[in-house]
Amino acid sequence: MIWIFLVSAFSFLIGSVPSGYLIGKSKGMDLKSEGSGNIGASNVYRVLGKKEALLTLLFDMAKGFVAVLIVKQLPFTQNVKEILISISIIFVVLGHDFSIFLGFKGGKGVATTYGSILLYSNYAFVGLFLWILILKVTKYASLASLLSFTVTTLLVIIFESSLKMKIVFLILLGLMVIRHFSNITRLFTNSEHKIKGSV
Ligand code: G3P
Repeated sequence: MIWIFLVSAFSFLIGSVPSGYLIGKSKGMDLKSEGSGNIGASNVYRVLGKKEALLTLLFDMAKGFVAVLIVKQLPFTQNVKEILISISIIFVVLGHDFSIFLGFKGGKGVATTYGSILLYSNYAFVGLFLWILILKVTKYASLASLLSFTVTTLLVIIFESSLKMKIVFLILLGLMVIRHFSNITRLFTNSEHKIKGSV
């Protein structure tokens, strides 16, 4: 029981590190009041440029990846470890979305979600590929995130056998949709922010 608490707290804390916000601050910008107002890589790209966006993307993905990697090393049975990894994945994304360092406000969790599932399901790579493809074609980061992760979740539900994994993906998808409410409204009203230039 104590390990469930420790893994949740540890993962939430790692996820809470607001890399995009800190990179913005280091350039004298408050991302929360620029562009889409998001602290993720897409908005860093809009406001600051490619180099800073790539750094944000890698850092946000690394938060998820490292949290799961560390939990994977814990000396428990496979079954217990699977439960702790599932908890870690959910809490690292929650930390990013509701950062303790930003008064429980935060990002939309896309990069951290993908980083956290890289060691969990091979379908993460299909999702990442789709994300890049949809972004290149449509220039809408939010559409790329929502569509690619919906397809990834469907693939997991259809082809993976673990019920735990299906539940984890459904929770992640639910969180992603909740955090993209404003984007969804803008997509339907044709007023969503595009990513300009080549990505
Ligand atoms: O990764 C976040 C993305 O899905 C949407 O970001 O800045 O376009 O709201 P943004």
